[in-house]
Amino acid sequence: MTITRSVVLGCGSYLPSQVLTNEDLARKVDTSDEWIVQRTGIHERRIAAPGELTSHMALHAAKSALAHARVDAQSIDLIVLATSTPDNTFPASAVSVQADLGITHGAAFDLQAVCSGFVYALATADGLLKSGAYKRALVIGSETFSRILDWTDRTTCVLFGDGAGAVVMEAQQQPGTRDDRGLLTVHLRSDGRFKSKLYVDGGPSSTGTVGYLRMEGREVFRHAVAMITDVVEDAFRATGYAAADVDWFIPHQANKRIIDGSAHKLGIAPDKIVTTVDRHGNTSAASIPLALSDAVTDRRIKRGDLLLLEAMGGGFTWGAALLRW
Ligand code: ACO
Repeated sequence: MTITRSVVLGCGSYLPSQVLTNEDLARKVDTSDEWIVQRTGIHERRIAAPGELTSHMALHAAKSALAHARVDAQSIDLIVLATSTPDNTFPASAVSVQADLGITHGAAFDLQAVCSGFVYALATADGLLKSGAYKRALVIGSETFSRILDWTDRTTCVLFGDGAGAVVMEAQQQPGTRDDRGLLTVHLRSDGRFKSKLYVDGGPSSTGTVGYLRMEGREVFRHAVAMITDVVEDAFRATGYAAADVDWFIPHQANKRIIDGSAHKLGIAPDKIVTTVDRHGNTSAASIPLALSDAVTDRRIKRGDLLLLEAMGGGFTWGAALLRW
């Protein structure tokens, strides 16, 4: 007997060309390269050019994923775009990507779960592929957090960056064992009691404005490692895998101390961690597919490798997935 699995056929990413270093930031706000590196591990981040939108970056990442997967855009019948920084309140930025790819069939929509957005989008696409309603999906994370940052607030503006990443996923029949290719398990959580710890102080139904990101950084930090390790343990329990079986750990890139702390608590060796936060900062829903793409491009990740993905962010939302490449 076989089962349907969502198998990743390829991945891609896009970064805007403008680099913003810690030294650049120290000229805008009262901060230093030393403080930022020591607390976060971030050295630089990318910033979208004026007029460069979330959907534009998503399109670049989507095209690069389609090329890597060697499939035609017309074979895509589902686009799930994870973002908290859409081009407009509506329509979904995903429909711009769909139109720019020349696709007029299937479905395209945005999904908002802040930094956990990509894991949520994977789970959503996986469910729709497994239902048999769709065959081949583009799952994208794309963010222009630079547009919702208060550039006078040193406690937040140093942490985030812009970028996009994407994967092509296809419904395939697999033997139905934990050795299968594709998404083996995915686990999502949220707890809205923490919604005021990390939020944007504007929105269509509250202020009628876009607003700026606000965060109690220490509070986020305090919960992050426990929440991440808890949901990863769920993924291990569901599959019977353990930390030692993981070939590559691809965490949401919020902060090097959170990444290293989670890996340490889980018992994942430092040389299995894929890290891009030093060069990308926190790109929210884009950070996992950007990191994935990095490690695929430089051939660290090989066919058959077991990947552990996890994220935690505003809401709080958090989640984890095990994926065989
Ligand atoms: N430069 C220099 N000093 C700073 C800066 C800065 N950029 N930012 C804050 N400080 C100061 C503070 O004012 C404070 O000064 P004080 O002691 O005189 O009051 C001091 O540094 C320590 O501040 P803390 O906030 O306690 O610093 P902490 O060690 O907690 O580090 C940080 C702050 C990096 C934000 C950390 O708490 C963190 O990483 N939290 C998690 C944030 C995160 O990952 N958020 C993203 C979640 S994902 C999503 O959904 C978007």
